[in-house]
Amino acid sequence: MEIIYTLNKLTEKLSQLRRKGLIGFVPTMGALHQGHISLVQRAASENDTVVVSIFVNPTQFNDKKDLERYPRNLEADIKLLSDQGCHVVFAPRVDEVYPEPDTRIFDFGHMDKVMEGKFRPGHFNGVAQVVSRLFDMVKPDRAYFGLKDFQQLAIIQNMVQQLQLPVEIVPCPIIREPNGLAMSSRNELLSCEERENAAEIFNMLSHAGEWSNSKSVHEVEKSIASGINRNPYLETEYVEIVDADTLEMVTDWQQPGRKVVCVAVWCGKVRLIDNYLIG
Ligand code: PAF
Repeated sequence: MEIIYTLNKLTEKLSQLRRKGLIGFVPTMGALHQGHISLVQRAASENDTVVVSIFVNPTQFNDKKDLERYPRNLEADIKLLSDQGCHVVFAPRVDEVYPEPDTRIFDFGHMDKVMEGKFRPGHFNGVAQVVSRLFDMVKPDRAYFGLKDFQQLAIIQNMVQQLQLPVEIVPCPIIREPNGLAMSSRNELLSCEERENAAEIFNMLSHAGEWSNSKSVHEVEKSIASGINRNPYLETEYVEIVDADTLEMVTDWQQPGRKVVCVAVWCGKVRLIDNYLIG
């Protein structure tokens, strides 16, 4: 496994590796956990070369404090990645990714205005900037993203379509702690007690399917929110049931298409997101 910090070195290395076959890419912001490792292993099973990027992208943080607090530990990340099938770790500096400020504004219609987009204005524009930039640098055949960031995945798929990028986006399942808490780099910021109590988020989400047989869409959203809020460690920011492909609001179970319930929940000072596919 080679650790590369510059675009020149990356391009040189990948020009050799590309001759061997397909390149699978796992973009990350570091603070790696088993969720990331599952993406790397999947990429390794489907490609000849695996590239993992570790880059905390400043343009996707609408809150400076959140950017400062974001956990970083390159040494531990590199250790975790060894023996997982990763060939190249790309850990660029900010000026390597953005030699000039990125002023591109993407149009995702309503997709980046709802849920995360409503509470984190500009976040998805920053994600689109960095992912398109990283795709341009790595030129992967396939890129792997976790379904935990459901809205991010839908927006990246939309961006790839809009820009006609020659990359296949591979959605990968959410990996959970034994207590049901979705794995996230932000979990590192939780105390032991908070981590235990945050399991209530998935506990409530997992009732959604059963509740959809007897309650309206709005009632299910309300029951999940009040169930989570009953836990003194947790406070929901939103609970929304949306169409899994378009992210349009669902108001009636009879609407066609797959539905997903998405939540954002504060646990102390840490903001957690999760989701659950219904039917
Ligand atoms: O999901 C993440 O970790 C980030 O949003 C991503 C896709 C690596 C872009 O910075």
